Amino acid sequence: EESHCKKINSILFYEYTMKQLTNKRILLGITGSIAAYKSAELTRLLKKSGADVRIVMTKAATDFITPLTMQALSGHPVHIELLDPAAEAGMGHIELARWADRIIIAPASANIISHLSQGQAVDLLTTLCLATTAPIMLAPAMNQAMWQHPAQQHNIKRLSKHGIECLGTDKGSQACGDIGPGRMLEPDIILQTIANSFHSNSLDGVHVVITAGPTQEAIDPVRFISNNSSGKMGYALAEAAIEANANVTLISGPTHLDIPDRVEHIPVISAKQMLFEVKKLLSTTTIFIGTAAVADYRPLTFSETKIKKSNDKLLLELIKNPDIISIVGASKPKPFTVGFAAETDNIIQYATQKYHNKQLDLIIANDVSDPSIGFDSNENTVTAIWNDAQEEFPKMSKQQLARKLITLISQRYPKEK
Ligand code: PMT
Repeated sequence: EESHCKKINSILFYEYTMKQLTNKRILLGITGSIAAYKSAELTRLLKKSGADVRIVMTKAATDFITPLTMQALSGHPVHIELLDPAAEAGMGHIELARWADRIIIAPASANIISHLSQGQAVDLLTTLCLATTAPIMLAPAMNQAMWQHPAQQHNIKRLSKHGIECLGTDKGSQACGDIGPGRMLEPDIILQTIANSFHSNSLDGVHVVITAGPTQEAIDPVRFISNNSSGKMGYALAEAAIEANANVTLISGPTHLDIPDRVEHIPVISAKQMLFEVKKLLSTTTIFIGTAAVADYRPLTFSETKIKKSNDKLLLELIKNPDIISIVGASKPKPFTVGFAAETDNIIQYATQKYHNKQLDLIIANDVSDPSIGFDSNENTVTAIWNDAQEEFPKMSKQQLARKLITLISQRYPKEK
């Protein structure tokens, strides 16, 4: 019976961590310690929980476990050198730093803790830690005397001031024969801590309605007007709001993306349909986020049959679509209303005008002149604007940015409510 209970517990454990870790990008740093053998198990558990794992090893780590083992377990080449032309051509160190949702260093040796506490960039792993905006966690592993040394404890305190979280150590017998604190935490405990770090209660039970993707405005049965929005930004926001425990409705134009778990998905095609669905939910919406690239105009008339190619010129008469977010912003009582402004020039000025004209509580200014950010890219750089304040978010993955924006929204929303 006991083994049956253990089996059920372990199934429940994986179901829980699967939800938190599916598609999360985990960069696992491995340093020189005998506990490096446990990193293999941690990688296996992370992969089993649905995470995408990339491994960075210090040279010392390769004395304890081979890069080949870690490559086979993670399914990706292992990164070791800071200045490796081949690796930089694939995924360079800055890209890796931006890619990660979390950096976990397990095992973290006394040496890397000392380097990190002083903000040094002596190899690939330490450089990544300086270059990332992702949360960093450490699972130290060392001899008990080294762990308890005042210099070590001082370094750990310094790290926490820099926002680097030390997960602590286990007590027990050590490889060197000593008994005491300093053993690396077991992989399942580290896995659980990483999974929990993706979850907050900052929007607990709050109904968040998000519009995403493009709208398509039909010309005839086979043609339409649309734009390049992929939906990635809006879907990432939906996922981040779920992590913050919100009840999320995602009203989405046509995209090729998977619907995030636990999100109520309402597919729409045109701006008019999007408005219809937004209005239906307005009375229960507490936070509204308009990420969708709604077509500003639609064809005045719809041809029931395919328009034939006859003349050299075809004139299409367009009529303005309703401005969905302005209708939300003008509603009484209105939800906390967050807009996006896709601009190619005078970005802050135009976004600020939209903030006022559309009666928003927050606007996210998005420079869409740079193809590496904005429409259809995996990364984004934005400036959040509200009242007389601004906050800039440097280039990062849309998933990371979404989490930061949801944190900002959850901080702003009660005060503005
Ligand atoms: O989907 P991705 O490929 O990930 O790209 C993300 C994005 C670039 C589309 C996104 O980050 C973004 O900037 N979305 C807003 C696009 C846009 O239509 O911007 P706008 O400046 O034209 O509109 C301002 C605001 O009004 C937006 O919140 C928009 O949703 C809303 N709007 C606009 C027109 C309209 N008829 N109804 C609206 O609700």
